[in-house]
Amino acid sequence: DDPALIDSFGRVATDLRVSVTDRCNLRCTYCMPAEGLDWMPGEQVLGDDELIRLIDIAVRLLGVTDVRLTGGEPLLRRGLEDLVGRMAALRPRPRLAMTTNGVGFAKRARAFADAGLDRVNISLDTVNPETFARLTRRDRLRHVLDALEAARDAGLEPVKINAVLMRDLNDHEATDLLRFALDHGYHLRFIEQMPLDAQHGWNRSNMITADEILDLLGTEFTLTPSPTERGGAPAERWLVDGGPQEVGVIPSVTRPFCAACERTRLTADGAVRSCLFSTSETDLRALLRDGADDEAIANVWRDTMWGKLAGHEINEAGFAQPIRPMSAIGG
Ligand code: GTP
Ligand code: 5AD
Ligand code: SF4
Repeated sequence: DDPALIDSFGRVATDLRVSVTDRCNLRCTYCMPAEGLDWMPGEQVLGDDELIRLIDIAVRLLGVTDVRLTGGEPLLRRGLEDLVGRMAALRPRPRLAMTTNGVGFAKRARAFADAGLDRVNISLDTVNPETFARLTRRDRLRHVLDALEAARDAGLEPVKINAVLMRDLNDHEATDLLRFALDHGYHLRFIEQMPLDAQHGWNRSNMITADEILDLLGTEFTLTPSPTERGGAPAERWLVDGGPQEVGVIPSVTRPFCAACERTRLTADGAVRSCLFSTSETDLRALLRDGADDEAIANVWRDTMWGKLAGHEINEAGFAQPIRPMSAIGG
């Protein structure tokens, strides 16, 4: 059998994004409503042994080399450090990264690094405390700033910041955020907002496009294209004021990078998704709980990825948002 997760367009998925919980302790307005969502019932969520078994299959049988833990907010999963330790003990050992909102991370950063975490991306949309509280509906900016510092001190580098801009909310603070990132040596990426929010409130005319982001930053900085090879990475990179420091823009909607996609995804309840925007997915949990062997599970995973579509259809007429919101897929 071919070891790789290859699709019918010839792309090979080597990057596995695992959502370890759909819960979150923030309420970003572009993601979920103030009251939160109906979280997955506990018995539906994969247990640690089940999760490790699937990741072992991915790295040993399917050619996955990189594993990223996401959520919801991954830190809300109990014993995540132990889970990271078990992933680091798999062979071949995958590179291990996490995407987190940073709340509560500062005091755990060292333990994660010791357990084998290699890198962390932290979400931060503004460095203004009032704007932060309005956007996330929680007053936790200090936690996130501490998390960034702790991540760097623990050697989880490069420390990346993901930022989403919302019109009339934090767009006018984009340059402040960039200045902050440059001053501290963090790698900042601005993300175009995608139609993945639980409230279905996304609206193209309100989205801050990549070009608009570049214009906003251009009011205070001179940006020139970075010579760095992009590969399968989602971010376009720009040198700031001649470099060497850079800023990234992730233009998921206006300049999709689906043709270079290297991703496969696993949801907290054990479904494989070939794309963020898949409208169908494959349940591995039932197979697992019915006693299927590793090879059988690997084959179902391969079949799912073979069926991966060419790309998302946000820009096509008749686009339908997936049923799961971003927080239940893993960003
Ligand atoms: P590294 O570049 O390895 O640090 O990670 P990453 O950028 O892939 O991971 P991260 O979780 O930080 O993702 C950043 C953002 O990229 C996400 O919040 C999404 O907005 C976007 N993104 C991630 N995966 C996909 C994808 O499969 N398709 C699209 N269109 N956007 C994605
Ligand atoms: N569009 C783009 N990015 C989003 N994120 C959450 N929801 C969306 C969306 N609808 C971002 C978060 C976090 C990352 C995982 O995804 O801010 O940085
Ligand atoms: Fe939580 Fe992330 Fe959604 Fe914000 S974007 S509410 S941090 S899951």
